[in-house]
Amino acid sequence: MASGEGPLHMVTPTIQSMPLSKLTDYDVYLKLENLQIPGSFKIRGIGNLIKKAAQHGCKKIVCASGGNAGLAAAYAAKTLGIPATIVLPQSTPGFVADKLRNEYGAEVLIHGKVWDESNKFATEMSKDSDCLYVHPFDHPDIWEGHSSMMEEATQQMPCKPDVVIVSVGGGGLLNGVLMGMKKVGWSDVPCISMETVGGDCLNASLKAGKIVTIPDITSVAKSLGALTPSAKTFELAQSHEKFHSVVVEDKEAVSACLRFADDHRFLVEPACGASLAAVYGSVLQDLQSRGKLGDVKSALVIVCGGSSSTLKQLQTWRDLFNL
Ligand SMILES: Cc1ncc(COP(=O)(O)O)c(C=O)c1O
Repeated sequence: MASGEGPLHMVTPTIQSMPLSKLTDYDVYLKLENLQIPGSFKIRGIGNLIKKAAQHGCKKIVCASGGNAGLAAAYAAKTLGIPATIVLPQSTPGFVADKLRNEYGAEVLIHGKVWDESNKFATEMSKDSDCLYVHPFDHPDIWEGHSSMMEEATQQMPCKPDVVIVSVGGGGLLNGVLMGMKKVGWSDVPCISMETVGGDCLNASLKAGKIVTIPDITSVAKSLGALTPSAKTFELAQSHEKFHSVVVEDKEAVSACLRFADDHRFLVEPACGASLAAVYGSVLQDLQSRGKLGDVKSALVIVCGGSSSTLKQLQTWRDLFNL
């Protein structure tokens, strides 16, 4: 565990993927955020938010999340010695509740059929002035924390990449990546945001030319399951010089997870598989053939990770999608 003295996240490696560089005709670099202790990049931003709040007198935290944000919040609170309450919708798998209680010492409350109901309850619970409400993605301190991964990447990569590939749910990760790219002088590097069909609120918003709320989350990539992107995400996606929003099928995201497990021996969620699908599939070539992306000699993929994929679940999806 981190000590609570410094940042709560780990500096993760950026490695060149030999299998993916062989498969594609460019060098593929992987920022391995799956190696963070709570299993995903979320600890960077949520850790930053909670740590700052603790320094300003916060005595407890409440977060509504049945996924990686909840795990990151519980881990951050435990490291700082603050009690955490995580509110989960009824649909959350039992092993997540067990993990939160047993490994992270959090109080777990099951409330609401969907996240919006759990979130409303969490917001009401955190009315006390010494209690911090932790949103899963929509806060400047979260984006600031996530941006640290780009500062690391710039030190770790042998070259400036020709493209950065990142998954989008509500957009907290993308905000951090784009802000980080600006900080390190990579504003001219194209960025491809990846979503799955049925979890594609940013793509729908960009197509509509305004922020829209999608009716439902039907994708298996539940961690990308925000109905509406953050306003900041919509703004940054439009202002980044070369930005491309791409949507892949669940089948492609799951296939990428399976191939990644074989190639690199890491188990990640379809939320992360969506980004990996860009390099396992033909996303870059498609953009290039439409004249939207220049020559690519190197690509940086943010391997955002995720703790909610079990081997059994991946095998079920493999059978479902005939992979
Ligand atoms: C593994 C994983 N990848 C990507 C995302 C998307 O992040 P954001 O909601 O910040 O866009 C999430 C969100 O929970 C996640 O857990």
